[in-house]
Amino acid sequence: MIWRGLCRRPLLLAIAMVVCFTWLFYRSDTLGDEVSLLERHHPLLFRYVHTNSALGGAWYIPRDWLSDTDHHPGGIVDAAQLALRAARSSVERQIPHSSIPLIVHQTWKNTRIDTWPRPIRHSTERWLRMIDGKAAYILWDDDGVAQFIQRFESELEEQFFALSPVERADVFRVLVSKWIGGVYADMDTEPLRSPADWISHSDLLPWQDPEAGKMYNSPGPVNAILGVEADCPSNSDDYWRMGYLHPLQLTQWAFAWAPGHPILQTFVDRLTAQLRTIMDQNGGLQTMSARQALRSLDPIALTGPGAITQATQSWLETTADLRWTALSGLHDNGTSKLVDDVLILPITGFSPGRRGYGNMGSKPISDPSARLLHRAQGSWRAFDLRVEYGKFCRTMFGRCRHWSKVPHHR
Ligand SMILES: *[C@@H]1O[C@H](CO)[C@@H](O)[C@H](O)[C@H]1NC(C)=O
Repeated sequence: MIWRGLCRRPLLLAIAMVVCFTWLFYRSDTLGDEVSLLERHHPLLFRYVHTNSALGGAWYIPRDWLSDTDHHPGGIVDAAQLALRAARSSVERQIPHSSIPLIVHQTWKNTRIDTWPRPIRHSTERWLRMIDGKAAYILWDDDGVAQFIQRFESELEEQFFALSPVERADVFRVLVSKWIGGVYADMDTEPLRSPADWISHSDLLPWQDPEAGKMYNSPGPVNAILGVEADCPSNSDDYWRMGYLHPLQLTQWAFAWAPGHPILQTFVDRLTAQLRTIMDQNGGLQTMSARQALRSLDPIALTGPGAITQATQSWLETTADLRWTALSGLHDNGTSKLVDDVLILPITGFSPGRRGYGNMGSKPISDPSARLLHRAQGSWRAFDLRVEYGKFCRTMFGRCRHWSKVPHHR
């Protein structure tokens, strides 16, 4: 008996070791599989983003944009400036009929694509495939955004970092458009047409305000492309019941700009004026009361689509005497409208395929006027009971107009 007991222990040990090594072997094998699967399913994302080692993000600049004298950029801000210089040197590197550089900007926390939600990997790969060889692509991570702010807007730094992450993302897209320009698109958008085909001749045709009778006839070139997000009759309560701040609201999940457009500065000026008021009333931005005051502001109005809509509206009303709701596509089957150098796409432009309640004239994604698809209801978004309640209450009962529409992650 004693002899058998002694003998069994090494046997158990041996079995345990075999099990352990087998497990380790299969584990490293499946890890290898995951990497090769990532590469197989998302080859461009893998090549340009995942295997990148630069700080601040990742970028792709078409090889023939670069000359022999161009040094390999040391950081993401230099890369963006290099892309802009290259884009300016040739009209083929700008969106036709415009001065908008063919540079696509996106932003995400990091460049480790194995940690990204699957839909995000899918849509980003589609962007890279769509622009491969024809446009530059710049993916800014959190560190890259900080580098950018420090380089270009250092006097805004304190205000910028006092905002919530959602608001910072809102403001960054405006600032990168102001200094570099190009297309900005959220990570949950998918291109349906290459940005190089975003403007057709038919988008530039003269149009008439049906109420005021005024004709709009701009010679071009286009310096900004914005899309309608909400298109509701202005005399109904539809827009706020659906959660919008304006009957005719523009989107900021995608837009395109020539650098330096005055609407972008209008946005920045409006934001800094509001933040300065909070600073003056609360002794800075870091005090408890200042943080409370900041948190009580609606991000949609402060930095989101509401702010983009207000900046564009005030600029176009002043410079072009535009009657804002003349931009509605409800009465002309959704045609594009050029006002001065700003091209406003109908709702189908950046929001095609909306169905049922809240369709607002949105046509199917196969429609020629659809530029990109927006997957708003991504499963990676946090579910927020307060926000969902407000949505339900507005839609069903027409109440809760000022109930919060955005979860507060602060
Ligand atoms: C509206 O536009 C679509 C294409 O976007 C077209 O197929 C349809 O015939 C147009 N409808 C009218 C009434 O012109």
